[in-house]
Amino acid sequence: QGPQRFAERLIAWQREHGRHGLPWQASRDPYRVWLSEIMLQQTQVSVVAAYYARFLQRFPSVRELAAASLDEVLALWSGLGYYRRARHLHQCAQQVCTLNGGEFPRSAEALRQLAGIGRSTAAAIAAFCHGERAAILDGNVKRVLSRAYAMPQQTSEAAAQRALWHLAEALVPDRDVAAYTQGLMDLGATVCKPRNPACGQCPFGDDCRTRGAEDPEGSGPNAMA
Ligand code: ADE
Repeated sequence: QGPQRFAERLIAWQREHGRHGLPWQASRDPYRVWLSEIMLQQTQVSVVAAYYARFLQRFPSVRELAAASLDEVLALWSGLGYYRRARHLHQCAQQVCTLNGGEFPRSAEALRQLAGIGRSTAAAIAAFCHGERAAILDGNVKRVLSRAYAMPQQTSEAAAQRALWHLAEALVPDRDVAAYTQGLMDLGATVCKPRNPACGQCPFGDDCRTRGAEDPEGSGPNAMA
């Protein structure tokens, strides 16, 4: 299926079946969106929610976070794991305050220059906050796209990544980028799961190139953690 059809179906699915009402979805404030995306990088939604609320209560804006001690940030982060994220979080808050007067840059390109913000996270923030046409590609999205388009085996891991980024960028629609981006995340988390994907609930139906395959999560080119 072509890019336009892919996006249209995903957006319609997201509106009806995607996740709504998550705490960070109430706001397009870049500080809140950034904080949630960093927390969600390696941690499940159900765990993040409580930490997100506590962080916002203690650090209502990026200025309070930048002014806090690293020890306090690490203490509040305790239990979320991957503590490098907390160090980068603190560092990024300070960068935003010293370099940019407490305003997060708008573009994905500029966001990527900050501590702890990789290509996909930068794109998610720019898409959610400003509707920028920027492609995300985290583990879930790699699995969704690899399956939907039966991405061929590449000669190297680097080549496989390049091909996936190329596909991800080609699929981003001209409008409703925020709903599209959330839809990709939600489909990967709730339907196109690593094991036992719920293909019967997938908006792509028979247009998924891997649907009904013997072993969609098996050891072939589409295997993704
Ligand atoms: N995982 C990463 N970002 C997310 C988001 N915004 N909502 C749900 N899960 C996510």
